[in-house]
Amino acid sequence: MSKMSGGKASLEKARNRAEELRQEINEHNYRYYVLDSPIVSDAEYDAVMLELVGIEEEYPELVTPDSPTQRVGAPKLVSFGLSMGTPQPIPTPLQAAKHRTPMLSLDTIFTDEQIAAWVKMIQRTTEVEEPEFTAEPKFDGLSVELVYEDGALALAATRGDGYTGEEVTANVKTIKQVPLRLRKEEGGAEVPSLLEVRGEVYLRIADFQAINREREKNGEPVFANPRNAAAGSLRQLDSRITRSRPLSIWLYDVGVAEGAEFATQWDMLTALRGWGLPVCELNKLVTGEAGLVAYHADLQEKRDTLPFEIDGVVYKVNDRSLHDALGSRTRSPRWAVAHKFPPRQQTTKLNDILWSVGRTGVVTPVAMLEPVNIGGVTVSRATLHNLDELDRKDVRIGDWVLVQRAGDVIPQVVMAIAERRTGDEKKPEPPHECPACKAETVRYEGDPFLRCPNLDCPAQIKGRIEHYASKLGMDIDGLGEKIVDQLVETGRVERLPDLYDLTAEQVQEMERMGPKSAQNLVGAIEGSKKASLQRFLYSLGIIHVGEGIAGVLARHFKSLRRVMDATDGDLARVAGVGPEIGRAVYDFFHEPQNRQTVEDLVSKGLEVEGAEVERTSDELAGKTFVFTGGLAGFTREEAGKLVEEMGGTTTDSVSKKTSYVVVGSDPGSKLRKAEGLGVTVIDEEGFKELLGLE
Ligand code: IVH
Repeated sequence: MSKMSGGKASLEKARNRAEELRQEINEHNYRYYVLDSPIVSDAEYDAVMLELVGIEEEYPELVTPDSPTQRVGAPKLVSFGLSMGTPQPIPTPLQAAKHRTPMLSLDTIFTDEQIAAWVKMIQRTTEVEEPEFTAEPKFDGLSVELVYEDGALALAATRGDGYTGEEVTANVKTIKQVPLRLRKEEGGAEVPSLLEVRGEVYLRIADFQAINREREKNGEPVFANPRNAAAGSLRQLDSRITRSRPLSIWLYDVGVAEGAEFATQWDMLTALRGWGLPVCELNKLVTGEAGLVAYHADLQEKRDTLPFEIDGVVYKVNDRSLHDALGSRTRSPRWAVAHKFPPRQQTTKLNDILWSVGRTGVVTPVAMLEPVNIGGVTVSRATLHNLDELDRKDVRIGDWVLVQRAGDVIPQVVMAIAERRTGDEKKPEPPHECPACKAETVRYEGDPFLRCPNLDCPAQIKGRIEHYASKLGMDIDGLGEKIVDQLVETGRVERLPDLYDLTAEQVQEMERMGPKSAQNLVGAIEGSKKASLQRFLYSLGIIHVGEGIAGVLARHFKSLRRVMDATDGDLARVAGVGPEIGRAVYDFFHEPQNRQTVEDLVSKGLEVEGAEVERTSDELAGKTFVFTGGLAGFTREEAGKLVEEMGGTTTDSVSKKTSYVVVGSDPGSKLRKAEGLGVTVIDEEGFKELLGLE
């Protein structure tokens, strides 16, 4: 074995090389995770890491606790018995960890007047006229202390009660931004022999959302906010769980710092940054009360655009020699204060759930809340989005709920607080009838929304008319949102057929309507009577029926009457339609009110028969298609016809010139050939998308 034959000299050589590699890796980590500007590729980084792993495997005695290989998730070393499949140690409860100096808390203020009072107190006590402050974001996470001994991370602990926290060293080591060893910058401050550095562990909003999406998928309860998620992730017994949650950290304070002195807070932050610790760029040095007020306003404005949550700002007297003069209360210093933003989440009682019909026929559950003040605004309603959301959150009438309001977003119910249930809460029942028009509501498989299918529903009529008149629909020029609103609000139009009874005189009565534009609009409405069947079917706003499907239906049935009388089986068998869309079309025409409306439109003179199909684009012109395997929704012939109608061609054999190979079930050798030639391969879904049928 090389270890035996190498002797002392090669051990020394290995030690030196390992040290060199560790420094190099630490530098790369710092550049990558802290500065966000790596100078090597992932592959180069891996090569350096692997060399170090190799040396440590050969000479286990050279492994140091702060070696980059010792992060959880770093390559596991076989010689340590930690390779895959080896039983992991059974987790023990988190150990207590005493802080050398207490981790204090901060007094909280909420108003500019309170800033003024605090600054006055400082001026009085220190006799400094225009004191300087560091102004920093108040990060909304959980505070931790990292202890570095001779530059190496020796311990990490949560704040706990300020005197004793929980030991979370292994978990903190999973945070990529945390250096395992402090770096000494050229010309920078010496690394202290002992450093207690404090900061906030948090989750970026995007990472929090990803975690919740994953938990939702696995049927696990979601976290209410990034702070709870960060706390839950850090205080884990099993570091592998922590590792799967990409925590971040900002450092902002020191306790003991043996071998280092800082005249000011700003110097301290600069030194921390120099040692490779992440320090937020939003920190600022400001002067006097005005500087603090301006910083607060600025950060409050930026709040919604930041990638992490902050719940206020923190002001600290910059000159550290004044800290002693100012002193501390039992739990908080007088030289620092937290100026909080108004909270964005509150708990309140959910009194009822109402169902509200939107312009598009979607019936939305709305939470009726016991009024609660959130960030200066009284909130008494919040959206519950749709039925899937309602199911997922399992919100019940009578529940205590967490409500959130952020920026201009409509308030939303984040979650029900199941722990506060008494047993009297009631599960909400989605209504069988539309609350606006009493038509039977429908819900299709895979659709998260409950819908009212009635064309004449008063809650939807404006939206229905706009869609009917839209460019891809009946293309009625001049019938836009403003005039539609007036026609409906004055009672001139209650249902679609009423459009065809409008006279120029009546239209002219509407605001901003001259005789000429009124005449034009009535003319455009009259002209729409001769639209194609494709346009008409599209204009009815049937769920799933876009321009493409409307074209397929028109081409297949050639007559409105035949579409209306088709069974759901007939519809499902149409190439490109399938059972789901077929069902929606069938239901639409079997809703008595809709049938009546279509009959009334026809009796007003609408003539939309014929198989003529318009295309707004020649998207498949010049494209060649080859099919292999069976398609579920089309015969080969039908698929080919559709391609040709959109300007494309089909052939039997694959060549480099083939644009698409469409793969069905049990594909033949054409698939392999296509892959060999690098031709684009799509499945039936992709094919339907290309045809505009999705
Ligand atoms: S300084 C003696 N700075 O706020 C000073 N704290 O309410 C100690 N926090 O426990 C804290 N951002 O968890 C400081 N920039 C910041 C902070 C900050 C968030 C948290 C920290 C602390 C709590 C005090």
